[in-house]
Amino acid sequence: MTTVTDAVRKRRSVRAFLDKPVPLETLQDILTTAGRSPSGANLQPWQVHVVTGAPLAELVQKAKASLQENPMGEGAEYDVYPPNLWEPYRSRRFKCGEDMYATIGITRDNKFGRLIQFSRNFEFFGAPVGLFFSLDRGFDRGQWAHLGMFMQSVMLLAHERGLATCPQEAWSAVHKTVGTFLNLPENHLLYCGMALGYADPDAPINSLVTDRAPLADYVHFKGF
Ligand SMILES: Cc1cc2nc3c(=O)[nH]c(=O)nc-3n(C[C@H](O)[C@H](O)[C@H](O)COP(=O)(O)O)c2cc1C
Repeated sequence: MTTVTDAVRKRRSVRAFLDKPVPLETLQDILTTAGRSPSGANLQPWQVHVVTGAPLAELVQKAKASLQENPMGEGAEYDVYPPNLWEPYRSRRFKCGEDMYATIGITRDNKFGRLIQFSRNFEFFGAPVGLFFSLDRGFDRGQWAHLGMFMQSVMLLAHERGLATCPQEAWSAVHKTVGTFLNLPENHLLYCGMALGYADPDAPINSLVTDRAPLADYVHFKGF
């Protein structure tokens, strides 16, 4: 049996999936249970769109067409990272990219290779299911944090069921295309996508295990 500790420790962002469908009942089960996530005053600010099959293929085509027209994306709705990221976050971001590209032998000067790998975001890395998380534009940082808790629940519950995920802020680059496709209400902002499916165990990119800062870097005990 998977414990919460197992799930938190073993969940990883997976970037290559098997061509194996995920039953609707499994997704309903995951999302119903994730709905138990906490939110301030129990607002439950999250909205999720779940896409598979022909609609997913159509959206992938539309996203690609948009990026061909506007390689820099459709204009940011929010800053995925603050401009001029400072230390230690800047180095962590750099290392995260370097470690990931190293698993597939893409060197720093191989800009084209990096671009191709990045573009796989917009195919959900071959996952059979794509999720999109949105929230009302009127919400502030508190509700964004609550949406994050909901997303973590989705990822841990998926892991418990033998499924893998990759949260994807990359989708915000094509928020207009996604919004139109999903009929997102005007007052809703697309925060993030998420690939979900069965991990390809043989894909080198899935060998990545990211590191973490030691406890002392982020925990401050007092009175112990
Ligand atoms: C909100 C969020 C958005 C992310 N967006 C992307 C993305 O667009 N593409 C991607 O490949 N990984 C994305 N990631 C995955 C992170 O790179 C990953 O979580 C981090 O490197 C830690 O690795 P781990 O998830 O395997 O523990 C995202 C993660 C989070 C939490």
